[in-house]
Amino acid sequence: MAIPAQSSGAATLTKDAAPGETLLKVTGLQKHFPIKKGLLQRQVGAVRAVDGLDFEVRAGETLGVVGESGCGKSTMGRLITRLLEPTAGKVEFEGKDITHLGVGGMRPLRRDVQMIFQDPYSSLNPRHTIGTIISAPFKLQGVEPEGGVKKEVQRLLSVVGLNPEHYNRYPHEFSGGQRQRIGIARALALNPKLVVADEPVSALDVSIQAQVVNLLDDLQQELGLTYVIIAHDLSVVRHVSDRIAVMYLGKIVELADRDLLYKTPMHPYTKALMSAVPIPDPARKSAKSERILLKGDVPSPISPPSGCRFHTRCWKATEICKTTEPPLKELRPGQQVACHHPENFADQAPQDVVLLSDAKEAAELVSEEALAESAETSAALAAQVEAESEPESERAEDAADGEGGEGGEGGDKSAAEGGDKPAAEGGDKPAAEPAAKGTDDGADEEPPAKEK
Ligand SMILES: Nc1ncnc2c1ncn2[C@@H]1O[C@H](COP(=O)(O)OP(=O)(O)O)[C@@H](O)[C@H]1O
Ligand code: SF4
Ligand SMILES: [Mg+2]
Repeated sequence: MAIPAQSSGAATLTKDAAPGETLLKVTGLQKHFPIKKGLLQRQVGAVRAVDGLDFEVRAGETLGVVGESGCGKSTMGRLITRLLEPTAGKVEFEGKDITHLGVGGMRPLRRDVQMIFQDPYSSLNPRHTIGTIISAPFKLQGVEPEGGVKKEVQRLLSVVGLNPEHYNRYPHEFSGGQRQRIGIARALALNPKLVVADEPVSALDVSIQAQVVNLLDDLQQELGLTYVIIAHDLSVVRHVSDRIAVMYLGKIVELADRDLLYKTPMHPYTKALMSAVPIPDPARKSAKSERILLKGDVPSPISPPSGCRFHTRCWKATEICKTTEPPLKELRPGQQVACHHPENFADQAPQDVVLLSDAKEAAELVSEEALAESAETSAALAAQVEAESEPESERAEDAADGEGGEGGEGGDKSAAEGGDKPAAEGGDKPAAEPAAKGTDDGADEEPPAKEK
């Protein structure tokens, strides 16, 4: 897709990191939401949503982050974009410590780091026109693009495959996929370096998902963007990620180059996630032993299991798993894993071989019907991504014309201008109850909103 030239008015302030250099570095990152009770609001516990993350994001790459709902992905996204204040740990952007920067200190950085939210229905203010929504970042940052705001907004609309003439329309006039394109245009307005996309396609129909994923991919190539893309399963991120981090209960359990992770997953949880979204590959379809269905829910992050947090659901768990937390170690170049008994690698605790009694009950093979159904969805997405990554020129037009313009109510959410909010307004609720989730999480458990 041909992308119109960037206007220099939105140029960023800091020196660019060369491709492959560390853009963002996170060390020991924690977010514990306090649980307060009673008249005096005494703290009685904490939701350990993010509980010690170490990773880096390299300039120009896409880091995929996957894990079941509630494992802390959104909290992580909000911490690294500094919409939330960390409880502990450090966030460095281009070598600069931004962990505790105040509103003023964060202002120049708000241009460089942007977020795309999960729900295109609620992240756009229904009372504002598309023009107002996409131009908001310019106003907030006091930036006057070359040629004027209107011209720049129209350029951004065409960049994301929408009709520039639709400048004066309202969000309800667009379909879900188109609204997510509007969210992307808003995120790109100030020419950011890092874009954190929190489940950007989870609320969309599977056929539209591929178009939006492909758009993100094209924009990265053309604009040299760096992405952190959050998803709750591997089907969305597998095609676009260079590396993938797998999260479980506030921790990274495996962080690996995409191909290594797919060919030889080492953490049992990664393996289970992978088999839950079977890939339509005849070789793997016949490998029955790889189809794993985890039993039970993710335990509460208020009191996570001792030792390895996955031991209550892991079919390989032994005594050491219950007592000793496995550190995230690079077992192979490009593959870090936190497990005492990894798959596809030498046992890290060979002396401990007796399975915990409930380990044998922890997982079962997935039924053929469930697999077939899931394979269909995966196949549809994979085929779309593949087909559409070839003839690029037609895609934008197809998308703009093809998505029906059904109505629908969008809520008025703070997320609308989230990328440009001062850190303090970003939704940190120190006294929130554990049940209170991030503002953009409503659709996690709901079936995808249908388009067309
Ligand atoms: N503001 C908050 N106050 C209290 N608990 C929260 C808040 N935001 C998230 N949580 C809790 O933190 C955990 C991780 O949430 P989240 O980061 O949204 O997970 P994910 O995005 O992986 O679904 C969940 O148990 C959630 O209920
Ligand atoms: S084998 Fe042990 S350490 Fe590895 S994931 Fe299972 S419970 Fe955790
Ligand atoms: Mg989330």
